[in-house]
Amino acid sequence: MDGIDRHIRATEDLLTLLDGLFAPGADRWTAGAAGWWDDFYTDRSRPVPFFADKPDEHLAAWVDTGRITGRRALDLGCGPGRNARHLAANGFEVDAVDLSPRAVAWAREATGAAPVRYLCGNAFDLAGTELTGPYDLIHDSGCFHHLPPHRRISYLALLDRLLAPGGHFTLTCFAAGGMGSELPDAELYRTGALHGGLAYGAESLRAIFAGLTVRELRRMRDEAPESPYFGEPFLWAAVFRREA
Ligand SMILES: C[S@@+](CC[C@H](N)C(=O)[O-])C[C@H]1O[C@@H](n2cnc3c(N)ncnc32)[C@H](O)[C@@H]1O
Repeated sequence: MDGIDRHIRATEDLLTLLDGLFAPGADRWTAGAAGWWDDFYTDRSRPVPFFADKPDEHLAAWVDTGRITGRRALDLGCGPGRNARHLAANGFEVDAVDLSPRAVAWAREATGAAPVRYLCGNAFDLAGTELTGPYDLIHDSGCFHHLPPHRRISYLALLDRLLAPGGHFTLTCFAAGGMGSELPDAELYRTGALHGGLAYGAESLRAIFAGLTVRELRRMRDEAPESPYFGEPFLWAAVFRREA
C-alpha cells in the first residue's frame, strides 16, 4: 500500500466512486445503504400516497386484462409491497426487493401467505445471486427516479440480465413538468445531491430504454382517493417489452 488512492480499473470501481459524490444520508440515494429510506418508513400512518395498499393503475390495467402474462415477476424497490401483492393475487410468483428493512418488514406483515419472496438489500448487489431471472415482468414504481445518473448503467445491466425475452418492464417515475428535479445530469454531480428525485422527459425515457419496445408511455391517471388504484398525474406510467 502506497497510501495513494488510485484503485479504479473497472466500470464498477468508477460507479462506486461516483456514488460517493452524493453525500450519504443527505438525500434519497444512499449508495445502496438503507439509511434515508429506512427512516422514511418509521411512521406508517403518515399520509404518503404510496403508503395506501393499492396497485399502480397502469400495472393493474395491463395485468388484470391479461395483456401482461407470465409466471415470475420482480418488484424493484418494492417498499411496503402494494404492487407485489397485486401481482401475487394475479397468479405471479413474485420476488420483491427493497433496501429498507422497515419497508420489507411492513411488506411481509401485509402480504401474509401470498407467494411473494421479499429480499432486503441493494437490487444491484442481489441481481444474479438472490435475484435470478428470467422474470416475465419487472415492475418499478418510484425506485428508478431516485438513482443517480451513473446507476442507470447498473439498472440497464440488471434489466438485460433478468428480464425474459418477450417479458415486460413496467415503470412509474417522475415526469418533467411535475415533481422531481429537472437539473441536468452534470449539475447533480456539481451539487452532490439528487434534489428529491429526478424528473424525466418522454424522449429521455425512450432513449434510456432504447433496447426495449415502448408499449405505452403516458402520464399516470389521477386516481381519486376512493379509487382502488394508485395514480398521480405528476408520474409517467410506462410499459416496455423486451422483444423475444
Ligand atoms: C418511492 S419508494 C417506492 C416504494 C414502492 N415501490 C411503492 O411504490 O409503494 C422507492 C423505494 O425504492 C427503494 N430503493 C431505492 N434504491 C434501491 C436499491 N438500489 N435497491 C433496492 N431498493 C431500492 C427504497 O428503499 C424505497 O422503498
